[in-house]
Amino acid sequence: MSGSNQISRRDFIKLVTGAVGGLITAGLGIPAIGYLLHPAFEEDKAGKPVTIGNLNDMPEGKPVPFSFTLTRVNGWERTASNFGGYVIVKNKANRDILVLSSRCTHLSCRVTWSEEADGYLCPCHDAKFGMHGEVIDGPPPEPLGHFDYEIDAEGFIIIIPVEVKEG
Ligand code: FES
Repeated sequence: MSGSNQISRRDFIKLVTGAVGGLITAGLGIPAIGYLLHPAFEEDKAGKPVTIGNLNDMPEGKPVPFSFTLTRVNGWERTASNFGGYVIVKNKANRDILVLSSRCTHLSCRVTWSEEADGYLCPCHDAKFGMHGEVIDGPPPEPLGHFDYEIDAEGFIIIIPVEVKEG
């Protein structure tokens, strides 16, 4: 029995096939488009606050190293930047600290704290900086830079990874 407003078996199969095909296309296509567009909308992490340690775990008067890598995303281009430095706790009770950058102010090599030399040494052109970043020897034109910081209620030190020049 078939009426004029009834759908034929052939049309029904076409309809079901089309619907299933559409679902499969959407199922594969939407994630693929999302994958292609993802980098353009990915959050740029550079400039966001970073926790570098806890004040309660750090001794007074002794540089404590820290380092981290941030990835800047510009569309499909990714750039990784390494940040590093030293936390110097001047007075723990007063939460008075200095967060120094380890980037030499001469040509950007990384300085390292030397207990023996009582200073930060730059391996590139033999510069030496004092514990608080002051130039003691060599070609650097200015002291080591620092990072602004906050210390939360539990003692975690949070910095904005943008270096502040001393000069
Ligand atoms: S880069 Fe440090 S002294 Fe030249």
